[in-house]
Amino acid sequence: MSQASRNPSSAGLFISFEGLDGSGKTTQLRLLGDALRADGHRVITLRQPGGTPLGNRIRSILLDSGSDADLGAIAPEAELALMFADRAQSLREVILPGLADGSVVLCDRYTDSSEAYQGAGRGLGSDRVLALHQALCNNLQPDLTILLLPPLATALRRARSRNDRHLRQMGADENRFEAESNEFYARVYDQYLEIARRNADRLVVFRGEGSIATIQRLILDVVRERLAAAGRTGVP
Ligand code: ADP
Ligand code: TYD
Repeated sequence: MSQASRNPSSAGLFISFEGLDGSGKTTQLRLLGDALRADGHRVITLRQPGGTPLGNRIRSILLDSGSDADLGAIAPEAELALMFADRAQSLREVILPGLADGSVVLCDRYTDSSEAYQGAGRGLGSDRVLALHQALCNNLQPDLTILLLPPLATALRRARSRNDRHLRQMGADENRFEAESNEFYARVYDQYLEIARRNADRLVVFRGEGSIATIQRLILDVVRERLAAAGRTGVP
């Protein structure tokens, strides 16, 4: 399978955040967005699944822990196809226009998540995921991927308590994946390491249990360096 391609004509910078549920992606993405806006960059943030109205419908099917009971057990292949339906829509509706417009696009999960969760977690294999990425996303990969990998048990503890809190406070049930076994998550974790090994120039990995502020500073240093290397200075 050929490696990632990047749209050579795009003026913006595409950054994805990856990691297990509870690894701190959403927290760090928000902090990075704030810092880059303060530096004078135009910033677009989105998450997958769910970066568009269509994607939000798909998200509620995929993340609601009642879906398998309501709809019949969702086949792993159908789950993968829905992830890519969401991704294709957000590419066309949000990511590509944002990059063409010179924005920094911060995306909470992208195709590496499909390779880790459906490819390894569900056992569908990387080749099938990467073939869909080629067919539906023109192989477009981020310029930079921030991979957050605290220990497995730490990430899952954080994600499960956050989801319980959201369920109590807002009635939002997004527990379908968090109910998966520790073995499932161990496969996801190992696949992320494999993806990082294979794409060492794209992924920057943050392992361990650093504080939110420490990790925030490290990420900002990496991103500012990449923006400077791309000749992108903000306009404060
Ligand atoms: P993700 O988007 O990867 O699922 P979140 O950013 O939602 O993760 O974080 C999950 C929970 O863990 C939140 O309650 C968040 O405040 C907390 N958290 C995030 N990063 C850290 C960290 N470095 N140390 C301790 N707690 C953290
Ligand atoms: P989300 O709440 O956005 O992530 P997190 O819990 O890390 O904050 O949930 C998205 C869930 O969907 C998460 O469990 C990972 C899963 N997922 C896949 O399985 N494949 C994919 O391609 C994507 C984008 C997400």
